[in-house]
Amino acid sequence: MKDHLMRIASQFALEGAIRSIDPLGGGFINDTFIIRTEGEAPDYILQRKNKNIFPDVPAMMENIRKVSEHIARRVAAEGGDPAREAMTVVPTRDGALCHCDEQGEFWAVCVFIADTVAYDKADSEALAEKGGEGIGRFQALLSDFSEPLAETIKGFHNIRHRFEQWDEALKRDAAGRVASLGEEIGWIESRREETMAFWRLVEEGTIPTRVTHNDTKISNILFDRAGRVLCVIDLDTVMNSTSLNDFGDAIRSYCNTGAEDDPELDRVELSLPMFRAYTRGYLSQRARQLVQAEIDHLAFSARYITYEQVLRFLMDYIDGDTYYKTTSPDHNLVRTRAQYKLLQSMERQYDAMCAVVRELAEEYK
Ligand SMILES: Nc1ncnc2c1ncn2[C@@H]1O[C@H](COP(=O)(O)OP(=O)(O)O)[C@@H](O)[C@H]1O
Ligand SMILES: [Mg+2]
Repeated sequence: MKDHLMRIASQFALEGAIRSIDPLGGGFINDTFIIRTEGEAPDYILQRKNKNIFPDVPAMMENIRKVSEHIARRVAAEGGDPAREAMTVVPTRDGALCHCDEQGEFWAVCVFIADTVAYDKADSEALAEKGGEGIGRFQALLSDFSEPLAETIKGFHNIRHRFEQWDEALKRDAAGRVASLGEEIGWIESRREETMAFWRLVEEGTIPTRVTHNDTKISNILFDRAGRVLCVIDLDTVMNSTSLNDFGDAIRSYCNTGAEDDPELDRVELSLPMFRAYTRGYLSQRARQLVQAEIDHLAFSARYITYEQVLRFLMDYIDGDTYYKTTSPDHNLVRTRAQYKLLQSMERQYDAMCAVVRELAEEYK
């Protein structure tokens, strides 16, 4: 393995001789290693990209390069340090953005950002606010980015696409479960129209398509030792989409008082204080750039994304559990119910959520 990693690493245009290569835990998707070098040269991150999730790694790396270079330019223009506040993709010695090994695995390298603080979980209002600030700053630095990006995961957060899959899943009834799921299917169908109405605003451009990160967990934000937002990492999923998708997905996970698959539905609620904290961080960076239609739908985006997740868990249950890993026969149904409980909690508190958004958008204008 060591030799193999050495051979892979030597394909890349690194500065300085390699001292060591070691696994770096933490991620869920890719296999990550740290390359330590001799002398003044930077250290590097080496990753085997997950080709099951990303069918076109070269296109993905091209997205990452474009976005990172844009952020680096903006940071430099603001007088910041692009080597620490932006990702730097390191090409191979042939100038490619990734290397394909003999087994057909794709590898990529970026500069390691040293002396940072990272968090596993946003379990306080202070961290939620920082998380919102991190993703808000990322989006803000890309607010003038206009190059097209490859759609690395097809139909991601596109509810029209999801409904096509959903209708087929119901027709197929692959696991013979549809007849017993009348109530749960009703949860989806009764909200189909309001959800499509939102998505049509995106399709017709009333809600603009921008650049989204699409994996907004706090572990993907690096902070400096003083706790300031430094750099958003893990750009594998950057794509063109509505900014609201990043916001909504973050709210779905940051603000749930229970677990995504909580069997105890009493534990699952939207925490309004966490919502306020995340929204404050986010709007502190974004209030001046978002158009009114985005502000007006910010709170709804949390419902949109949570609804989509209810649909996806239920659809996988209907399909016979082929997509999500499950640890019990009804795991996808448990997840469906827990996310539905969260959705209901958001619906119940929707007016309050909208009021928070209005207040903070005004404060940061
Ligand atoms: N440029 C970087 N500088 C410092 N640490 C990094 C960098 N890129 C990744 N890491 C570390 O490696 C971990 C996994 O990388 P990440 O790109 O998030 O992979 P995954 O998609 O598997 O989550 C991160 O959580 C972080 O700790
Ligand atoms: Mg990550």
